[in-house]
Amino acid sequence: MKIRNIIIGLIGTAALSLPAFAQQPIVIKFSHVVANDTPKGHAAEFFKKKAEELTAGKVKVEVYANSTLYKDKEEMEALQLGAVQMLAPSLAKFGPLGVKEFEVFDLPYIFDNYDELHKVTLGPVGRQLLDKLEAKGIRGLSYWDNGFKSFSANKPLRMPEDFKGVKMRIQSSKVLESQMRALGSLPQVMAFSEVYQALQTGVVDGTENPISNLYTQKMHEVQKHLSLTEHGYLGYAVITNKKFWDSLPTDIRAKLDDAMAQATRYANQIAKVENDKSLEAVKASGKTQVYTPTPQERAAIKKALIKTHVDMESRIGKDLIQTFYRETGFDPAKL
Ligand code: LMR
Repeated sequence: MKIRNIIIGLIGTAALSLPAFAQQPIVIKFSHVVANDTPKGHAAEFFKKKAEELTAGKVKVEVYANSTLYKDKEEMEALQLGAVQMLAPSLAKFGPLGVKEFEVFDLPYIFDNYDELHKVTLGPVGRQLLDKLEAKGIRGLSYWDNGFKSFSANKPLRMPEDFKGVKMRIQSSKVLESQMRALGSLPQVMAFSEVYQALQTGVVDGTENPISNLYTQKMHEVQKHLSLTEHGYLGYAVITNKKFWDSLPTDIRAKLDDAMAQATRYANQIAKVENDKSLEAVKASGKTQVYTPTPQERAAIKKALIKTHVDMESRIGKDLIQTFYRETGFDPAKL
């Protein structure tokens, strides 16, 4: 017994005196589905740099972009199982997880600009929504901006009637499904990694995205028309596996919180700039006709889409929608 304890003690001492062993970094696998050269791609790289710097190498962040590790639905499961430690899915992708309240962000025209959006994402309402993820074993760390979505297809999309019968790829959000049906188009849920090919082969006719996503996935090469409707918002919740996060040493967690706060400021600074750059690049490519709707066309599309707010009350909750209206100053009576 005595000898056994000594051996155990020796092994313990040896382990402690092996610096290489003791200093194994904590690895954070950060998986996402977009290209590196996007607001989310740049922000993930920024977070990696800051996290590694602030923890003096005690944390190593491995960023896997462009669905190289997991596609949309798979990455959520991988996070819950602990196969990856961090993701930044779009807010439209939390429904299948059972947290359908996030789909409030998908309501058409709910934010007129980034300032209105930030009243939610940088305030208590945004935090309360992130806290709803705890029950799913997920800790919500922050919101990162992308931008406002526009419709694209192989035909001009100017008035609501142009959308009739058009097969539109959507993210897995019931609000987006309702939005597309309100225009008479046929929504199809599809992983982001599959959209380019689906557009190319005609499995779907069109889609909606902020321009940075459209351009970096080369969708503009297989979409002849882009209408700058900016009818809805697409952004991200940065999330981590709660068990993993809670198991981190307190000082490391504080440094990662700091890195995340800095990455969030950075993400929100570059999002609009990146989208504007992508729009210029799409125009310069000459492959897609970029159209700015007239005030009349904008009003007609808005009128058709706004019914989604009422139609989705039972799914998202009337109270939550009203809370968003209060935060952003949205007034349905003024439409
Ligand atoms: C999409 O699926 O269109 C987006 O959510 C992709 C992304 O992460 O921006």
